Amino acid sequence: MQDKASKVADLAQRRGFYWPSWEIYGGVAGFYDLGPLGKELKNKIVELWKEKLVRPLQRMVVEMETPIITPYKVLEASGHVENFTDPVVECKSCGRKFRADHLIEEKLGIKVEGLSPEDLTKLIRENNIRCPVCGGELGEVRPFLLLFQTQIGPYEGDKGFIRPETAQGAFVNFKRVYQYMRERLPFGIAQIGRVGRNEISPRQGLLRLREFTIAEIEFFIDPLDPGEPPLDYDAKLRLLPWELAKEGRKEPVEVTVREALEKGWIINKWMAYWMLKAKELLNELGVPDENQYFEEKGPEERAHYSSQTYDQLVKTERYGWMEVSGHAYRGDYDLSRHIKFSGKDLYAFRKYKEPKVVKVKVVKWNAKEIGIRLKAKAKQVIEELKRMNPEEVEKSLEEKGYVEVAGERLERGLVWVEEAEEKVTGERFVPHVVEPSFGVERLLYVTLEYALKEREGRLVLSLPRRLAPIEAVVLPLLEEKPLVEKAKEVWKLLADAGFRVEYDEKGSIGRRYARYDEVGVPAAITVDFQTLEDNTVTLRDRDTWKQVRVRVEELPGKLRAFLNGFPIEELGEPVSAGPQ
Ligand code: GLY
Repeated sequence: MQDKASKVADLAQRRGFYWPSWEIYGGVAGFYDLGPLGKELKNKIVELWKEKLVRPLQRMVVEMETPIITPYKVLEASGHVENFTDPVVECKSCGRKFRADHLIEEKLGIKVEGLSPEDLTKLIRENNIRCPVCGGELGEVRPFLLLFQTQIGPYEGDKGFIRPETAQGAFVNFKRVYQYMRERLPFGIAQIGRVGRNEISPRQGLLRLREFTIAEIEFFIDPLDPGEPPLDYDAKLRLLPWELAKEGRKEPVEVTVREALEKGWIINKWMAYWMLKAKELLNELGVPDENQYFEEKGPEERAHYSSQTYDQLVKTERYGWMEVSGHAYRGDYDLSRHIKFSGKDLYAFRKYKEPKVVKVKVVKWNAKEIGIRLKAKAKQVIEELKRMNPEEVEKSLEEKGYVEVAGERLERGLVWVEEAEEKVTGERFVPHVVEPSFGVERLLYVTLEYALKEREGRLVLSLPRRLAPIEAVVLPLLEEKPLVEKAKEVWKLLADAGFRVEYDEKGSIGRRYARYDEVGVPAAITVDFQTLEDNTVTLRDRDTWKQVRVRVEELPGKLRAFLNGFPIEELGEPVSAGPQ
């Protein structure tokens, strides 16, 4: 018997949701095409994501678009070139390569995420784990860089990568958006776009892709004054904090947001805010609370940039608990690295309540003597002196008795350091970042898996009504002229009113209902002989198969109400159902 994952994959291919890319050339693992219905469903999921995560904080979260191809320097600064790796192991006999941690986890049933390549090799040796395909001996585990590398333009030195996350596009633009936001924190940059990760051996359909869409927000805060999220502190979250997991706990606990913050299980209010939003989003995609929770990553398992990470996990039938979003407290890691590597100012400014008078050190010099000694070069040397760090000048004078400026040695007397008083209105600081990040194709997959039901031996895709790629279908009861003409008129009425509506006259009415149930069309509208007499049609609910009679003039309004969640019974006179 087919499991749910196979049924979803089969339906997806047959009915236009998705299928492996480059199929006519044999396909390439980890790449999938979205068909007409898959693309439409994805658009609706992205819309819902924006509705839940971007729009409620209208004046705080803005959307941006930055390039996919990213220069080497940016991902070197971000730490990806050094750290964005997975452990790979090669079979000495057949040459196949595997993800070492997955192989060990499958064989031994233990979690090994975050272990070093040496430790993984040791586990393979100690447990005599062999090639799962040919049984051959496995070699040493080594890190494999997951970045897709490319070259920008004709010069070989100009290396670039396909971005592995959209986040870096947000970090490098911090200053511009900070200025656009009139230098107020907190604010977030949302970005939805394609990313590439050269996965070692992706085998989980739409759940592990080498190219996919990510929807993320980089939310910048002042760590000393993070602001107050519009957060329901009594709302419940299911969490497995590291503090409990490291003691051996496997099941999540259900706690209020308040408790989670008080116990320090979630280290920042904004993290809790985005996690709650993520939970609600998954609810709306059809995943109930009991089939999702947040698991905290241990210190060894977290990405290099993160000081706390929770993965949002959703239960899937074949693959178990799958991560659909990650919530990372990235602290000042990314902005500090970009400040260091680019030499540019990516600071925010924190204003003091009252200006402060502070003692500062300033570099002083004898311009006349420098002029006499250095003549034409004096101007350049003085300009450089102005930019020098007083602490360093003082240190050099103390240790060496002189300071070197533009290749000239200036001894104490020509240059010295004085203390002065200065009025300061605030201070620069590096903002911290809280990041919710979603894999959109994973959301698409779990939406389909949770929607797929069976009724009387037929598949019904019970998508949340508002997510349905096709909202309604108009069907003449029989393929006969007056019915067909009237049905086309009804179809046009709905199409003109802005509905995404299909028309179908081929096959028995029962078969047509089944055809549209299977692709998740919430409403089927049938034109029958009574329609010709009293201008009413039947409106059928995909999930209950109940039908009501509705006047054609009222149909657009009632269909809108139905798609917005009204029960079918409230929309018209019940009809004793004929063929289903
Ligand atoms: N930006 C989050 C991630 O790369 O997973």
